[in-house]
Amino acid sequence: MRLVLILLLAGTAATAETPGEALFLRGEGAQAIIGGGAVRLPASRFACAGCHGADGDGRAEGGTAFPPIHWSALTQRPTPYDAEAVLRVLRDGRAPDGRMLNAAMPRYDAQPEVMDSLIAYLQGLEAARDAILPDRIQVLRSGNDALDQGFAAAAERFNASGGAYGRQMVLTETGPGVPLSRLADEAAPAITEACLNASMNALKQAGASQFALLGGSPADIAYRAEATGLTLAKTAPSILALEPPGNVAAGQHFYGCIDILGPAAADLVTQGAQLTIALPDRAAFDWARAGGHDWQAMRGFTLGGLLGQAARDAGRRTTQDRLIEAARSLHVAVETVSLP
Ligand code: HEC
Repeated sequence: MRLVLILLLAGTAATAETPGEALFLRGEGAQAIIGGGAVRLPASRFACAGCHGADGDGRAEGGTAFPPIHWSALTQRPTPYDAEAVLRVLRDGRAPDGRMLNAAMPRYDAQPEVMDSLIAYLQGLEAARDAILPDRIQVLRSGNDALDQGFAAAAERFNASGGAYGRQMVLTETGPGVPLSRLADEAAPAITEACLNASMNALKQAGASQFALLGGSPADIAYRAEATGLTLAKTAPSILALEPPGNVAAGQHFYGCIDILGPAAADLVTQGAQLTIALPDRAAFDWARAGGHDWQAMRGFTLGGLLGQAARDAGRRTTQDRLIEAARSLHVAVETVSLP
């Protein structure tokens, strides 16, 4: 599983999480002070996102109002916050107008660099929101030309079919924008999962009772094998490939995801192998074939289609966070194609 993920992600820059993001989303790296200073606890049960929302947009729940805390909200209060004022309110609970916040808002204690990073994250939340405009969703290029090209082609289709809630999808060079590389990261596990399940089903449908594994760890596959009633053997003509096959022996039939089997497909077929490839996106496959595009471009096209789906699912009040959340929990329909 791990290996598959790495292969899927190869070529996209993974965005490392900052301490501020970890504190905001999961309450890591700080202590929360509650009960008017009486109780000090790890902040893990008091993540900002838990009360103010992952998008910092605020909400009302159980009679308590959790105000919006992304940057434009904070800087547009009648007595606006600046970075210093936010640091103070987190430390002492005193707002810039002198008001003491009620005790439902914890106080926080963390290293200065963690707090500075949190401020930067709150500022970034605002920049991210600007990626979603009333008439368009801006997506930041990944810098990988093939990936970007595939994405742009899918965006063009999405736009031609009317977009989502009046929004078109636009690929931009500079921010603000939803980073394409981030989308690739977020969508990867769902795609991998769907591909693996499809490969297992294909194995079963082909009438195999046992199969061998290439790459990956048997432990990751065991429960899938059990669920489909197949036996994992040391060697078998039917092989689930979690890494690209090297040499091929006569009569071998490889099952696997397109990212694994795709790049080597022509070569493997020439060597006499049969392939059953799971694809998250038939349209992307057809597009790539017709235009002679490579696998990376195909993946970009797939991501464009998935983002379009996510934009429709996330609804009219889409925010970058909702979009990324939707990309993470995508329902990926997978098809299989057989070669030769
Ligand atoms: C347990 C719920 C809870 C958690 C966790 C929480 N807050 Fe709050 N926060 C509140 C409530 C409730 C208020 C409003 C208090 C009031 O108005 O008296 C508030 C107010 C604020 C304000 C003041 C906004 C204004 O309009 O003056 C800021 C800034 C803020 N929170 C930031 C944060 C940050 C950053 C974190 C994480 C480090 C965080 N909050 C975690 C509940 C929470």
